[in-house]
Amino acid sequence: MATSEPRELISVERIDDRLTELAAQIDQDYAGAERLVLIGVLKGSFIFLADLARRLTIPHRVEFIAVSSYGDRESDVAESVRLLMDVRHAIMGEHVLLIEDIVDTGQTIAYLRRLLGARRPASLRLCTLLHKPDRTEAEVVIDYLGFTIPDVWVVGYGLDYAEQYRTLPYIGEIDPI
Ligand code: IMP
Ligand code: MG
Repeated sequence: MATSEPRELISVERIDDRLTELAAQIDQDYAGAERLVLIGVLKGSFIFLADLARRLTIPHRVEFIAVSSYGDRESDVAESVRLLMDVRHAIMGEHVLLIEDIVDTGQTIAYLRRLLGARRPASLRLCTLLHKPDRTEAEVVIDYLGFTIPDVWVVGYGLDYAEQYRTLPYIGEIDPI
């Protein structure tokens, strides 16, 4: 359990405005593509993906992929990212946009870029709602970014602390114990 209620870091209104901007940018960038495949990284991205995808006007398909959660990790972080559930369809020749809740150390996205890149998609980009640059271990290219945040534990809007707070409408900061 956390010690206190989350302190608001990013309001519902700011999230809403930023998503509208991101969707407009994505619509524009993929205007010439036949279709886009959005791959949400479970579980944290489910709300972000739902809200972002509904703002897109370009044709798109939705897929999900799941990797080992943060809590599963032991000392050797790079070795501990594991695939728990793969996408349902082949992505060869597809324009793929990975949808992530947060890039923390970068290890998850480095792993997913390697895994999915090897399947030869037409393109592979990353859209993440949040980025904690202070925690970088693996450098990853972020093509679309919602917000840069400091090194604090955030919850809400899909993000959890021990499976709590995922459906909080705003992004809040907690003191993990
Ligand atoms: P990375 O591999 O260290 O970049 O970790 C990415 C994953 O760790 C994210 O997809 C989240 O599931 C989780 N994570 C990292 N920081 C936070 C946080 O502040 N709140 C909730 N989840 C987090
Ligand atoms: Mg995640």
